[in-house]
Amino acid sequence: MNKKNKNKNYLSLKESRKILKYNIKQMRYYERLKKKKVDQSYFVTTMKDPNNLVEIEQLETHFFTDSGTVKSVNGVSFDIPKGRVVGVVGESGCGKSVTSLSIMQLVQAPQGQIVGGSIRFNTDDLGLNENGEKLAYDIVKMPMKEMYNVRGKDITMIFQEPMTSLNPVFTVGYQLDEVVFIHYPEKTKEEAKEHSIEMLKQVGISMPERVYKSYPHELSGGMRQRVMIAMALSGNPKLIIADEPTTALDVTIQAQILDLLRKIQKQTGCAIMLITHDLGVIAETADDVVVMYAGRIIERGTVREIFNNPLHPYTVGLQKSKPLINTNTKEPLYSIPGQVPNPINMPNTCFFKSRCSKCIEKCNHEYPHEIKVSDTHYVTCYLYEKEDNK
Ligand SMILES: Nc1ncnc2c1ncn2[C@@H]1O[C@H](COP(=O)(O)OP(=O)(O)OP(=O)(O)O)[C@@H](O)[C@H]1O
Ligand code: SF4
Ligand SMILES: [Mg+2]
Repeated sequence: MNKKNKNKNYLSLKESRKILKYNIKQMRYYERLKKKKVDQSYFVTTMKDPNNLVEIEQLETHFFTDSGTVKSVNGVSFDIPKGRVVGVVGESGCGKSVTSLSIMQLVQAPQGQIVGGSIRFNTDDLGLNENGEKLAYDIVKMPMKEMYNVRGKDITMIFQEPMTSLNPVFTVGYQLDEVVFIHYPEKTKEEAKEHSIEMLKQVGISMPERVYKSYPHELSGGMRQRVMIAMALSGNPKLIIADEPTTALDVTIQAQILDLLRKIQKQTGCAIMLITHDLGVIAETADDVVVMYAGRIIERGTVREIFNNPLHPYTVGLQKSKPLINTNTKEPLYSIPGQVPNPINMPNTCFFKSRCSKCIEKCNHEYPHEIKVSDTHYVTCYLYEKEDNK
């Protein structure tokens, strides 16, 4: 190897071949596992708390790339309680979308694979076991075929840009009816239309018959997002995952869509996982907040706890970098200095260490453990470790 190229970012041919060989082996293994014929008992488990709709425990989702393994989700654990709005926040690339795609089993395969952990989904299909415990599906272990019964029906997803989810050559009505037929195959054409129009009314569209006959390009961005929400609601889901649902919209429409999501959550009792990088959206809409950094959760709590008493230096930094309209200061907006470490070569210490201004001696040790601050508030930072927690 040329001495000049001997740096961390350079991969020799030998190293590239080694990575390729490893990737093929891993991808084959996980793909085969997904197609394996298994008994229902293999993917049925019990909920730790029957009041939770989803319990994510030590989830690990990796991408086997040419440069090495990217641990996009690196041991993530949190719950989505029934009927709550859980906001997931963190800067670009921290693993928010990959976490949600893992819940849907929609991670881009074969490079992307869930390699560990569990996602327990509290389904009504299974009832209780002999000990009276609530039975659940472990989505991580569910074969693809079984997943079709959950995805789109019990769990639905709304994306940032509705135009990418709507087909431009079919009318809104045609596409809505198609979804209705998937959930209710017994319905006639007329009944499906009635159902679709009812859904359009529910999402606040004032001329539902007209929108039903329109093509997606004839609608505004806000209207298209409402159509997507109507589509997501059509099967009466228990969980709606909204990945940056308002990022492509202007602020007034953004507020309307957030109000709509909140209204729907109250009316239907479903839970919402709301992914955003905007703390303002979280403050307005969420009940609970999960803060992610570099594939891990660094703080979680109720919206009050995270806003009134942010503990992790990264959460504090996020709060400080939020623009405020009622201040006269001419100071430039705060931005957290430094960069996220290389996702292929994460350090053994706290991942935030290179950007943290609060470092103490202990921060040179291994990655900190999650510390319980209250029944609902948890933080992963050495600053809050008591001697007896060690
Ligand atoms: N298909 C893919 N192939 C390789 N790496 C991927 C792929 N999808 C995501 N990743 C990597 O996984 C990490 C997490 O990505 P993810 O999309 O979850 O971020 P995010 O938090 O949703 O960011 P954003 O706010 O920009 O949407 C990133 O480092 C990204 O590069
Ligand atoms: S553990 Fe240390 S380096 Fe990491 S956020 Fe806390 S104080 Fe900063
Ligand atoms: Mg994303």
